[in-house]
Amino acid sequence: MRINDSAIVERLKELGVELRAAVSLKEKTSLGIGGTTDELLLHRYDTIPQVMRLLADAGIPHRFLGGGTNVLIADGELPWVVLHLPVAHPGMRAEGNSAFVDASADLGGMVTFCAKHDLGGMEGLIGVPGSVGGALRMNAGAYGTQIGPWVREVELYRAASGEVETVRGKEIRFDYRHTSFAPDDVMLRVKLELPSKPYKEILAGIKMCNEKRRASQPLNQKSAGCIFKNPPGGSAGRMIDELKLKGHRVGDAEVSDRHANFFVNLADATCDDMQRLIDDVRERVRAAYGAELENEVIFWRN
Ligand code: EPU
Repeated sequence: MRINDSAIVERLKELGVELRAAVSLKEKTSLGIGGTTDELLLHRYDTIPQVMRLLADAGIPHRFLGGGTNVLIADGELPWVVLHLPVAHPGMRAEGNSAFVDASADLGGMVTFCAKHDLGGMEGLIGVPGSVGGALRMNAGAYGTQIGPWVREVELYRAASGEVETVRGKEIRFDYRHTSFAPDDVMLRVKLELPSKPYKEILAGIKMCNEKRRASQPLNQKSAGCIFKNPPGGSAGRMIDELKLKGHRVGDAEVSDRHANFFVNLADATCDDMQRLIDDVRERVRAAYGAELENEVIFWRN
């Protein structure tokens, strides 16, 4: 989608928004898949409600893209523009047992920043790619750690009210890879409360998680992490592996030979290739186990 109206372009500039025309989202996602659209870089937090109102009034559909590490985006010309939050440096502050972090910050960067301030508990999240905002929305987790339990407050833009609001941790439901945030809530900042732990101890935990991850996941290939959620009490990766589907391919989309719940883009996979591979594997698991695998990766269809 293109924003061509010069009055809108001018007003966006006044609101501190940088407009980049016809950007390929292939370059913006860890899967290396995605079509083309205009990209809006918001350089200021305070104008977000005005920017959102302007887009709504002009009838310009939009989506917020965070780290792009858990999303499968349609190919071709996309019918919505993509927004990015302002990146602050470093966008993190520690105060006693609290950490205040911008949603656009890198998740791994947040874990190491907290570690340097002797704040632990999040070691398992090291190596989970993506932004803090994406991790909050999905309640990202690994190796027995999820972000949810550490959250005390979230500042967000609530599309339903058109306002920036602060929500207390207790008011948010954090489930397995799911939260009670509305789909159009935009995470802006988070306050975490973390246990004190010596830096060296946290570092040892980080090292252990990194080693486990390196040993079991295809980290040097283009992927969106796990494609399916684990069914209750089961493991999607083990089921797919047992069906001998490692290496199973549609076009350039392939079930990783390292971890069967990671689907990788070998070179030029399209969204359609990936989607067909996902549907095919889901169907085979349903036929063999009677289990319905739910997507973990988020689909942005056009
Ligand atoms: N397994 C196989 N074959 C495979 C993959 C796994 O037999 O190809 C077996 C393993 O041997 C193990 C079991 O399945 O006994 C579970 O595997 P693993 O420890 O790798 O964990 P997972 O359940 O597949 C989950 C998360 C990962 C997270 C890891 C580590 C989900 C869907 N996945 O994977 O998160 O990194 O645990 O805690 O919850 C993600 O969310 O994108 C993600 C990758």
